[in-house]
Amino acid sequence: MIDRFRGKDFLTLMDFTREDIRDMIRVSYDLKMKLAMKEPHEFLKGKTFGALFEKPSTRTRNSFQVAAAHLGAQAIYMRPDELQLSRGESLRDTARVLDRYYDGLFIRPASGTGQKTLNLFAEYMKHPVINACSDFTHPCQGLADLLTIWEKKGRLDNLKVAWSGDPWNVCHSLMVGCSIMGMDMYMAFPEGYDPHPDILKFAKEHAAAGGSKMILTRNLAEAMDGADVVVANVFFSMAHDAEKEKRKKDFAPYQINENAVKEAKPDYVFMHCGPGYPGIEATEAIFEGPNSAYYDEAENRMHTEKAVLALFCS
Ligand code: CP
Repeated sequence: MIDRFRGKDFLTLMDFTREDIRDMIRVSYDLKMKLAMKEPHEFLKGKTFGALFEKPSTRTRNSFQVAAAHLGAQAIYMRPDELQLSRGESLRDTARVLDRYYDGLFIRPASGTGQKTLNLFAEYMKHPVINACSDFTHPCQGLADLLTIWEKKGRLDNLKVAWSGDPWNVCHSLMVGCSIMGMDMYMAFPEGYDPHPDILKFAKEHAAAGGSKMILTRNLAEAMDGADVVVANVFFSMAHDAEKEKRKKDFAPYQINENAVKEAKPDYVFMHCGPGYPGIEATEAIFEGPNSAYYDEAENRMHTEKAVLALFCS
């Protein structure tokens, strides 16, 4: 196993190089093959991980717990309302206490204050802290997306990725991933919706350095034109539930449907991090169609989280 990740936090893909991400994808795929071949891979036998979720999750929580089990480790799920955090114990002290029990902590912090929570845990825990989706980034999703693209297309450069949907954490992670790995990414959003400027700056700089493009457009057809990978995302991320109706209206022209994908390459791959809402950001025919990698991508969450645990927490 590669040593250079051991003991580090996994907070954002911005912290890693192209070589690092390639290694993470290779280990994810190796672990996926070991599972398929029923080869034992209990590399983390005897370890125990904490999973603190301040927001709902289907994929991240379950894939993490199953990933830990496959590696011979245990994962204990915690809700903040069941901890003394709910009665005012500080985040700092909670982090220092949990650090005495766990070999690593997987945390999905609440929207709004979440990035601060994540950074505090990373500061006060000596064991690795893994970002299970903050407002800013969702690196576990980003890594699974890259593994899925690599499996479907056989490479991670010289590809065009088209994005439609909320320019939020999942978009940010994919922008970072595409820019580091050398893929063009064209993102279509309505007026008034743009990614975080820090992410945009990072992604544009890295794309330019690696010879790829990071393009924002208000025109879905421009994003879709010749795309190898078509990524839809929800129109309202968890942080934006209160704006659901306005966002559904604003993003409606950006739906991925049979007409929109006519612009993409015939063998395009459709991706969506989930949870998906067929009929809103993409039609049922697209989610369920022959180009869809929706469930493969969800499965890859488990294989990539196994790699993160094995590399960072061994
Ligand atoms: N994509 C994703 O993180 O899904 P969950 O919210 O179900 O974990």
